[in-house]
Formats: sequence, C-alpha cells, structure tokens
Amino acid sequence: MSEENRGSLRIPAHIAIIMDGNGRWARRRGMPRTFGHSQGAKVVEEILEDADHLGVKYLTVYAFSTENWSRPQAEVKALMNLLRRYMKSSLAKCTKNNVRVRVIGDKSMLDKDLQDAIEDLERNTASNTGIGFQIAINYGGRDEILRAVRRAAAQGLLSDPEKIDESVLEGCLDTAGIPDPDLLIRTCGEQRISNFLLWQLAYSEMYFTDKAWPEFDHEELLKAIDAYNHRERRYGGLTD
Ligand code: FPP
Repeated sequence: MSEENRGSLRIPAHIAIIMDGNGRWARRRGMPRTFGHSQGAKVVEEILEDADHLGVKYLTVYAFSTENWSRPQAEVKALMNLLRRYMKSSLAKCTKNNVRVRVIGDKSMLDKDLQDAIEDLERNTASNTGIGFQIAINYGGRDEILRAVRRAAAQGLLSDPEKIDESVLEGCLDTAGIPDPDLLIRTCGEQRISNFLLWQLAYSEMYFTDKAWPEFDHEELLKAIDAYNHRERRYGGLTD
C-alpha cells in the first residue's frame, strides 16, 4: 500500500483478533507447536505497538479459550507460562507506551500466581490513558454472557423484567465500558468466531486471512484495515 493511501485510511477504534495458526506454522517448520505460540506472543506485542501508532484505541486478543484446556497438558502449560511471563514483565513497557491492560475471561480457574500477576498489571496500568489492551484468557463468549447474567442477578438488576435492557447486560460483561469491536481479524484460513466476543461482535466487520498468526505483521494489519475501509457499515439499516 502506498504512503499516500495509508494516510487516508479510516482507523477502526477497536480491533479484535483471533490469533490462529501458531501450531500449524510451527509444524510446517518441523518445530513443536509451542514454538509457534512463543513466536505468536512476540507478534502480539509488535501488533499492539503498530495498532497504537496507527491510532487504534482498543485491541482485544484471544489468547486462551474455555475450550483450550482440552489440549495436551504440556501445551496448556506452555501457553500459561507465556501469559505469566507477559504479565510479570510488561509493566515498564506498558507504562512507557501508556497501555492499559485488562484481562477478560474467567480468571478464577487460573493458577493463583498468574491471577495475582494479572491483577498487579491491571492495577498498575489502570490509570494509563493510551490504547486499551484486552487479553482474553479462559474466555468463552457464552461463558461471559452467563457470568454477566449471574452478576446482574446478584446485583438485583433482573428483578423487574421491564427494566432489563442491553445496557444492563453490557454493564456486567467483562468488556464493560469498552466499545464493541469495529473489526474482527482471524488468521490462518478458518472463517468462524469460535465463541469469541459473541455479544460484542454483533455488528463488527470480519476480515479473514490465510496468513498464520506468527506471520502477521504491520503490512497485514494495514491490509485488514484497508479491507475494513471498503466495507459499508449499515447496522441493519439503509444507507440511501
Ligand atoms: C491458536 O493457534 C492460538 C492459540 C490457542 C494461542 C494464542 C496465544 C498466543 C499467541 C500467546 C499470547 C500471548 C500474549 C502475550 C497475549 P493454534 O495453536 O490453535 O494453531 P493451529 O490451529 O495451527 O493448531
């Protein structure tokens, strides 16, 4: 894409990403799947910086789903270790880049030290005013909606059916206060949302690429944003 075209791109405020293909990418190179995940973790950090520089306000990535526990134990452990390392080592960078981190998903099933590291990073970046970086861990869209309903019930928000509207549920989702994604990117060929942000993706534009996540880079991000610029968002209405 030419420099001139880049300058005129409309930048989505919120991009969500299903980072697929780490395992396939590694196996194609004769490497263990976990090598793909380590490479993928490096790419996440690069794309966060790229997105921030482009003016994206929120980036949400799917790091570990409620279904991923069924993978071999060694792979689950490797993924948890990558997440642990990120939580424990990223404060300085987040502070420098003014990044606000929030983990979405059910944290109660994670190891206690990982829960503590998440809480520390969230707390220590909570007053940053730059890009919001959401990491989905032990996350499932249906599980999030169920937990939101339970939360709403516990707060007595469901006692009068007439008063239940979208804002009640939205306020109880893990993403409360964060606008819905404008663009969903999924890498490595599959075209489905796999239980990611079921509520929030209602009107998002979808972009699918055959590139595996470890191959995703600045140019690929620009391609996805360029495709987004060619979509007409109607939110169920008419434009003329
Ligand atoms: C899907 O690829 C990817 C995952 C299940 C894990 C994604 C996690 C990371 C990239 C690490 C995140 C780190 C930070 C710091 C947020 P796959 O393994 O299902 O690939 P395959 O479909 O080729 O098997």
